[in-house]
Amino acid sequence: MATTKQPSPGERARELREQLEDANRRYHVLDDPAIPDARYDELLHELVLLEEAHPELVTADSPTQRVGGAPSSEFPPYRHEIPMLSLANAFDEAGLRAFDARVVKLAGAPAAYVCELKIDGLAISLRYERGALVSAGTRGDGETGEEVTPNIRTIRDIPARLPAPVPARIDVRGEVYLKKGDFEKLNASRAAAGHALFANPRNTAAGGLRQKDPRLTAGRRLSFFAYAAGAFDGAGRRPISQSELLDALEAMGLPVNPHRHRCATIDEVRDFCAKWEAERDSLDYEIDGVVIKVDDLALQAKLGYAAKDPRWAIAFKFRAQEARTKLLDIGINVSRSGKLNPYAVLEPVQLGGVTVRMATLHNEADIVRKDIRIGDTVTVRRAGDVIPYVAGPVLELRPKKTRTFELPERCPVCHSKVDHPPDDVFSYCTNVACPSQLRERIRHYCSRGAMDIEGVGDVMANALVDAKLCRDVADLYDLTGQRMSLLPRMGERSIQNVLDAIEGSKRRGLARLLSALGIRYVGGQNASLLAGEFGAIDAIAAASEDELSAVNGIGPQIAESVAFFFRQPSNLAVVERLGRHGVDMTAPRRPRVAAGPLSGKTLVLTGALPNLTREAATELIVAAGGKAGSAVSKKTDYVVAGDEAGSKLAKAESLGVPVIDEAGLRKLLSS
Ligand code: IVH
Repeated sequence: MATTKQPSPGERARELREQLEDANRRYHVLDDPAIPDARYDELLHELVLLEEAHPELVTADSPTQRVGGAPSSEFPPYRHEIPMLSLANAFDEAGLRAFDARVVKLAGAPAAYVCELKIDGLAISLRYERGALVSAGTRGDGETGEEVTPNIRTIRDIPARLPAPVPARIDVRGEVYLKKGDFEKLNASRAAAGHALFANPRNTAAGGLRQKDPRLTAGRRLSFFAYAAGAFDGAGRRPISQSELLDALEAMGLPVNPHRHRCATIDEVRDFCAKWEAERDSLDYEIDGVVIKVDDLALQAKLGYAAKDPRWAIAFKFRAQEARTKLLDIGINVSRSGKLNPYAVLEPVQLGGVTVRMATLHNEADIVRKDIRIGDTVTVRRAGDVIPYVAGPVLELRPKKTRTFELPERCPVCHSKVDHPPDDVFSYCTNVACPSQLRERIRHYCSRGAMDIEGVGDVMANALVDAKLCRDVADLYDLTGQRMSLLPRMGERSIQNVLDAIEGSKRRGLARLLSALGIRYVGGQNASLLAGEFGAIDAIAAASEDELSAVNGIGPQIAESVAFFFRQPSNLAVVERLGRHGVDMTAPRRPRVAAGPLSGKTLVLTGALPNLTREAATELIVAAGGKAGSAVSKKTDYVVAGDEAGSKLAKAESLGVPVIDEAGLRKLLSS
């Protein structure tokens, strides 16, 4: 019988390192993971144990040195054998053309260029000897930087070893950066831990590289793109152009940005710059421009340097998308649905070519979470064409006197009470007659599923509000032919049609009226549950939260919202006037079912059933003694799914809750 020979610890360590390096490379450079993360962790753990038992086997480039490693007490100076240069900038097409004109003049002929994205991170130089990463340093003043080798070793897409064949010695230059997604994750976990948030990916990356303890660098999940070489000896044919160099770096196993393009003319260069300025937000990392390099390396050498900048390259800088300015005040806008939207009043500032005076402040919770205060200097950002937003305060510049933002207790438009639902990041105006909500409220009241008043859509609702004919929905019933004749483009005939439709709406019944009032969380289904239970609007208005939530199918959140609605005097006044106009506010009460075929069962409806509306199906379920739930859980007995069922169906399937269709529901009802 053949025995398999156990590898020696040294052999096993080498094997593990190769597997881990390969997995790293597949994961980060080729974007093609070879093994699951858990397997990676297992292999890494085995190597850690092996190295702990045999410290003599630890190598500087072992993947175990990426996480942890001894904290360095300081950063030794790092001399660059070939200086790391900076670049002159171009800010517009004229700048690009001036650059090209000088190249053509000095070269005596038109030159081809390579365009690369200008990654917004920080430059680093990596020294590889016979394929092994031996040291790494920041740019510093270009001659001398700081040695940050242990920190660099924690970056998973910087290979510790380049697969053969490799040059005897190469300084790989590139950019260390933080992906937007990783930045968001990092900040989310900082927020959860109650730590201050990082301002932007670039600073976070820069700060990460300068950590004294490499474990902290590892925690920032930095990334890397290679784009140049410094010292470079040995290994066969050397690249003769920048495009060949980039391909060679990629072939060595280094991550090279895929969005690079060789351009034969400066017009092509301009188009590449314009394309990426427009599309920068589609990338998962920040770029602040395009770097344009003469492709031919011999020509680069001929062009040489002017002062400290090369004559063969230029950085085309995008217009800034971020600026700092003072937050003068926080105002509040009330949306059509009653949502209170805070906005920033700013000291005017130039941003991306426009003067910005106002910016969005997402929501109140965000203002509190980011600790944005009136009087702060804030970072204002815009992405693409969207409205600028306040990213956060610049804490170093916080003046002694600032004012914290207070959640308003009264609507800034109508001064009614504001509701702050506990699980919501927004607050809401609670007054159905609030002028800022009026248009939307009228449109909703008249819509097909609500009071079904044909002829009053968006345009008409706006016209009624603009002409001050409707200050709330009850005013609809005060309309006369004479008043409506003041509206633009309204003939006698269409006026009469609208008046007839308004008259007809008085007979829709309580369920439709409840959903037409636009009470938060009260759509058709909940409205018919409430109507059938209480039979009259007065009874609902008088019910306590507990009485409301005792209704089959009405949860505490809905009960809270309904009770709140009927506590507001302005809402009660509208309801009272609707009653005086003869709007039917009653519904047949649902007989109490002691027991039925669905007693004790909870059913959740999703999607559109072929022959039953949501309300009708709910009625049938409740009449059969069942409960109509709104969310699927393990306690749900059946999900009744129709066409275009969405997440509830998926949830049912994942929880193993039986799913039936309309026919299945009818079978249950008659069982
Ligand atoms: S080439 C002489 N290529 O931009 C060549 N730089 O403003 C010098 N950068 O210090 C660098 N992406 O930190 C080059 N594809 C790219 C780049 C890039 C970002 C940074 C780099 C440099 C700065 C110059």
